[in-house]
Amino acid sequence: MTDRDAVPFDLASMRKQYRAEGLSESDLAASPVEQFARWFAQAATEGGMFEPNAMVVSTADAEGRPSSRTVLLKHFDEQGFVFYTNYGSRKARDLAENPHVSLLFPWHPMARQVIVSGVARRTARDETAAYFRTRPHGSRLGAWASAQSAVIAGRAELDAAYAELAARYPEGEQVPVPPHWGGFRVVPHAVEFWQGRENRLHDRLRYVAQPDGSWRVERLSP
Ligand SMILES: Cc1cc2nc3c(=O)[nH]c(=O)nc-3n(C[C@H](O)[C@H](O)[C@H](O)COP(=O)(O)O)c2cc1C
Repeated sequence: MTDRDAVPFDLASMRKQYRAEGLSESDLAASPVEQFARWFAQAATEGGMFEPNAMVVSTADAEGRPSSRTVLLKHFDEQGFVFYTNYGSRKARDLAENPHVSLLFPWHPMARQVIVSGVARRTARDETAAYFRTRPHGSRLGAWASAQSAVIAGRAELDAAYAELAARYPEGEQVPVPPHWGGFRVVPHAVEFWQGRENRLHDRLRYVAQPDGSWRVERLSP
């Protein structure tokens, strides 16, 4: 294999010119959650994105070793941003040791990204149960079948676990909420709204939480 085969695209020359329309301080909503709601509505309706609620969740363990993965945002309001996962997974183990977390929404087709930094706490059991009941039957069984992030012998092990659960809980049967599964709510401390602009002179406006509960907005150099 030659170097050319290894990198079939000329990555160094792949670049797009971003839009002229920007984001100014006077456009911003009073709170970052309100601003997020505006951008999310645009991403979901005009963004041409497959899953606008897909976000990259980055955690770090007690030694500061980082890891990232994609997760679906399932709820947001002034209390924070909620996602669901397995409490035995790597991300959940990281968050138990170090609750600081970063969420990144990569809305590339709109030349936008939103970056939330904050602290994650487990959602209450009743909130988790209410969401679990909205999941399709197969996904509920999947939450039981998977010891997320554990090394397994092969695919067959997973399929066998699922088949056993499907026999125990046929379609229409109530599936209990797995004790090892639930939500995290990320309470934002800072939220950056990034809008790509021409000539790489992007707009970056960041809300930073103040001790009195208000938000300060600062502009960052692109
Ligand atoms: C589009 C997409 C959405 C995903 N949504 C979730 C999710 O909501 N919850 C989840 O636990 N994993 C989700 N995953 C899988 C995670 O990326 C990851 O593989 C899993 O959570 C284990 O991560 P960890 O071992 O770092 O904890 C999703 C993956 C993709 C690509």
